[in-house]
Order: sequence, then structure tokens, then C-alpha cells
Amino acid sequence: MVPKISTLSGYLHEQQKSIANPTGFWANIAETFFWRKKWKDVLDWDFNIPKVEWFKNGKLNITENIFERHIFIQGEQKALIWEPNDPDEPNIEYTYNELFSKVKRFANVLRRHSIKKGDRVAIYLPMVPELAIAMLSCARIGAIHSVIFAGFSANALQERINDAKAKILITADQGLRGKKVINLKETADEALRSCPTINSNIVVRRTGGTINWNNEKDVWWHGEMDKVTDESKAETMDSEDPLFILYTSGSTGKPKGVVHTTGGYMVYTAYTFKNVFQYSNGDIYFCAADIGWITGHSYIIYGPLLEGATTIMFEGTPTFPNPSRYWDIINKYQVNQFYTSPTAIRSLIALGEEWIENTEMKSLKVLGTVGEPINEEAWHWYHDHVGKNRCPIVDTWWQTETGGIMISPIAGIIPTKPAFATLPLPGIQPVIMDEAGNKLCGNSVEGSLCIQFPWPGIARTHWNDHQRFKESYFSQFPGYYFTGDGAKRDEDGYYRILGRMDDVINVAGHRLGTAEIENAINEHPLVSESAVVGFQHKIKGQGIYAYVVCNDLPKKDDGEELRNSITKGVSKMISPIAKPDKIQFTHSLPRTRSGKIMRRILKKIAEGKGDYGDISTLTNPEIVEEIIEGNKKIQ
Ligand code: PRX
Repeated sequence: MVPKISTLSGYLHEQQKSIANPTGFWANIAETFFWRKKWKDVLDWDFNIPKVEWFKNGKLNITENIFERHIFIQGEQKALIWEPNDPDEPNIEYTYNELFSKVKRFANVLRRHSIKKGDRVAIYLPMVPELAIAMLSCARIGAIHSVIFAGFSANALQERINDAKAKILITADQGLRGKKVINLKETADEALRSCPTINSNIVVRRTGGTINWNNEKDVWWHGEMDKVTDESKAETMDSEDPLFILYTSGSTGKPKGVVHTTGGYMVYTAYTFKNVFQYSNGDIYFCAADIGWITGHSYIIYGPLLEGATTIMFEGTPTFPNPSRYWDIINKYQVNQFYTSPTAIRSLIALGEEWIENTEMKSLKVLGTVGEPINEEAWHWYHDHVGKNRCPIVDTWWQTETGGIMISPIAGIIPTKPAFATLPLPGIQPVIMDEAGNKLCGNSVEGSLCIQFPWPGIARTHWNDHQRFKESYFSQFPGYYFTGDGAKRDEDGYYRILGRMDDVINVAGHRLGTAEIENAINEHPLVSESAVVGFQHKIKGQGIYAYVVCNDLPKKDDGEELRNSITKGVSKMISPIAKPDKIQFTHSLPRTRSGKIMRRILKKIAEGKGDYGDISTLTNPEIVEEIIEGNKKIQ
């Protein structure tokens, strides 16, 4: 088990040690895992290439570290608790022994379907236990999983399958979220019309609803599981062999396949999970994220299971059957650590205090947030109403690319401050840069947040596009990893994340590229171009504001119809999560002389702020007035 920090001086000591001798620091932690063969070098790196390799030539399998390593001591301990969408439906609880048996079985299913080490497996599942089993089974045999969030459209699914050249898809008949039934198989069928690399489609029966069946490709999960045994040897992996790909949005239109490798990701997720949440043996831990995103990968599956924790996986939504659902789950399982997003908190605040008033939640020890800045009001509500003034809040800052939590309080040990992610975890060396690329030393500074030394969980590349990986994070500030976020370090040395500095918007904790949304809007036959910006949104943190230029501007009455059809198009191309909240039609967009759209102005207008700065450099300054007027009409 990884070491656990238990005092503030212990934290300061570890932090110092990790900066003075990072490789020694991480090697000590890595020693606590099971390696079939020890690594030769702890770290080989050069951010200019960029290249980062941790524990290279070390041989291991991450599932041996989850199962075989724990089985003798706690095979009968609960590993995974699955709470269904409908509280009246029975839940499912797997001990480590039981989960292991399922994982080995499904590993054999994959092998029967000719999946080998290095092959890509696309997983498009709702929050059902088979999702966890499928991921771990891939890891067992060395296949690279690519989980695609079940809210994505057929088009988005297809794009991700084809980019990774996945050989097999795992989906479900339908998914359940609140009162909604999501026709996953139907969407998958549509995507598979043009996915030449997919040989089979394994379908989990979740609802038993009617679906189309393709005898050539489709097989039932349960049917396949019956054909195999639960004896399955783990594949030997190099520490630097890829574990998974997870697609995320960047500032260009195409989603990027962030690649995480085995050894470093294992060490980093386990270490950060145990320390940030101060997990103790026997605690019940509940992360309400979706496994379709990195939070679910690192802090529902890998981090907790590597530490022998009991982790809850929740299929439903915070408001079904009523807005007490999270609190009911916390009471039902006596949850000790609860981890959710600021958007979920804000949406529950908006529904009123009566849903939380009489909830006890005495078991809670730690609360966490992730994915977006938390405003002070939400922080206090979380602290007072959920934590009943006794639970520290860990505001965890990190990213898909960082693999695990980077800047965060260690629960109960690092004093918190509302809306601050506070201090870097041991092993993390954040720096703040000014626009000219100078490192800003000392406290009370603000600028671009970079990291100046590799940590084991850092992404290694973008699938099939190392050049883009380099451009995205290592070119703006040579020699540093640029996070894309702005941050301030206050007078106490505490970090506050100020949000994205690039063309990425964070809507309800979902990261979306503005270019990706614009591409989808521009597909509409009546649209000639568009510009998308984020604006402050009371619940979602940021909303999506689209300025749309049409070939024929809609007349007063048909604007609404066109808006609806643009919105539908975006849902179809990407996902309902990418639907613009506001669409404003305009004759043109403000452009600089070099033809670049002046987003700064569009963002200010969308947020209802004045002071547009110098607009004399625009080729069409007169359009600004028109856009301001148009904006007033759609507020
Ligand atoms: O802008 C930051 C924001 O979410 C971005 C990363 O998004 P994604 O890769 O989807 O991962 C989300 C889950 C880790 C960051 O660049 N972000 C994440 N956590 C915080 C945050 N912003 C402020 N405070 C946080 N705690």
C-alpha cells in the first residue's frame, strides 16, 4: 500500500523530499506495488521532444496490483457497489474475489474474440458494472481501452472508434438516467455503419428493451461469459505500455486521444487517491462522476481499487427520483468520502434546502469537488449543508492529461480556503508564467499555469499524433507542461484556478472545444460561419454562446425554428451536452486585419460586459454595435 501523509509537517517534508529528489521519491512509492520485474531507470524525460518514461523496463500488470495483491488479505472485502438508477431495483455488490472472477471471465471473452495485447477496445456503456469489468479485463490482457461517454452521438462515437482503429465495441441495449431511456445500441448501430475495423459488438442487456440485431457482429455479453472459464493469466506489460486512450476536446476541431501508460498511471492514481481523500481501510468511497470521463477512470476505478477500497458506482442522476438521491445513497451505504462536481452542487442548491434539511450523513468524513472552479457560495453550501460543518472539502484541480489530482488540499491536513485548490501534491512543481514566458516567482502573482517537472501520471502522447501533443502542451512555454489554465498564487502561496485560457470551454464540468462546436454548427446548410464562446452560467459554470452568420439571415419569426434545427444538429454531431444555450444571428463576425475572429469582444458581449478594448484594429468595427444590439434582444 502507498504511504499516507498524516500531518501538515509530514506533507511539507514529503513535498520537500519530492522536489529535492523526485526520482527517489517516486521510486519509494512504486516499490510498494507488485512488479514482475523491477524497472531499470526511474525516469527518462525531455519536455522538448516531449518524452516522459517512468519505471521503464519494469514489468507488471495493473490488475495483478488490484486483485492478486489484495486477494489474500481482503478477497472478501467489497470492491464495487453498484447503485442502480431506480432505487427500487436491487443493487449489486462485488467482493474483490467476485469482481476478479468476472474480470478474468471477460478477459477470456476478449481473447476468444481475438483481442490481443495492444489492440484497441471501444467501450460505449452506461454506468453499469460491466463497464468496470470491461476496462479491467482489457488491462488484464494488455488491450487498450477507449471508453466513450454514453452521452456522445453516433457521429462522435464513430470518429473515436475510427481514430483508434478499435477492433471490438462493447455497448448495451439501453441506458437509464433518471426518467430517460437512452438507446445506446441504436446509436452504436448507426456509428458502426462506417467503422471498418470493428469485428464484433458485445451487447450488455441492461433493460431488455427492443433492439435491432445484426447476426454477423452482435453477441450478448451474458452469452459470451457463459462460454468461458474464470482462469485467466495476466499479460506482462511494460511500465510504458499504453493502458488506455481517452478522447478529450482541444482547441482545434478534432478530439484528441490522450494516452496513459501503465506503471506511472498506477502509481500516481493510487498515491493521490489514498492521500487526498485520506482513505482508510474499510471506508466506503463514492465518486459521483461518470466513467466516460477521466475522473471516473482514475477515481472510481483505478485509484480506489489499487488501494483495496470499496468504491460506489452510481448509474443515475442526482435528482431522480428526487433531489435527495445523493444524500440517500450516502446514508444507505454510510459513505465516508464523497466526490462530485460544482455543477451538481449548484443544481442541487437551486432546488432548495428541503431536500437536504433532514439528512444526517453522519458517516461523511471528506467532501471533494472536481472539474471546474467552485464558486464561494457553492463551496459554503457544500461545507455547511452536506458536510454539516465537519468535513474538509478537497477542491481538486487536475486534467485528463495529468492522469490524477495535481493541486488539492490533503483532507483534514492542508487548511482549506473557499474556491482555492490550495497547494500542490508532493511530486508536483507548479509554476506561473507571464505572457512573455517569464516564471513569476514569489506570492501574489497571476498568469499561465505550467508544471516544471514530470510526474508519473502525465499523459505520454496523443494517439497517432505526437506532434499535436507537443503543440498542445509543450510549445507555448518551452521546457514546461502548459496546462491551458490561468491561475493565481495568493499571498499564502495558495493556488486558485481561474479557468481556461485557450479556446476550450468547461460546461458543467465537461470540456468542449469551441472549434468542435463551430464545426457542428457550420454543417447546417443555412449557416456560413459561426463563433462560439463561453459565458458565465449560474448552474453550469459556463454556458455556450454561439454567434451564427447565415446565408439568409432569418426573418423575425423563423429565427426560433432555425435555432432549434442548429441545436439539433449539434446534438447529433457531438452530444446534447454541446448544445448552445444561446444563439445570436449576425451579418458577420468581428475580424482583425489578418482575418482572425476577435473572440475577446464576442466573449465580453456574451457576458454582458462593456469595455471592449481597442476595436480600431478590426476590419469591420461597425459590426460590434450590431452585435451588441442583437445581444440585448436574446438575454
Ligand atoms: O480548466 C480546468 C478544469 O477542468 C479542466 C480539465 O478538464 P478535464 O480534462 O475534462 O478534466 C476534468 C476532471 C479532472 C482543467 O484544465 N478544472 C478541473 N478541476 C478544476 C478545474 N478548474 C478549477 N478548479 C478545479 N478543481
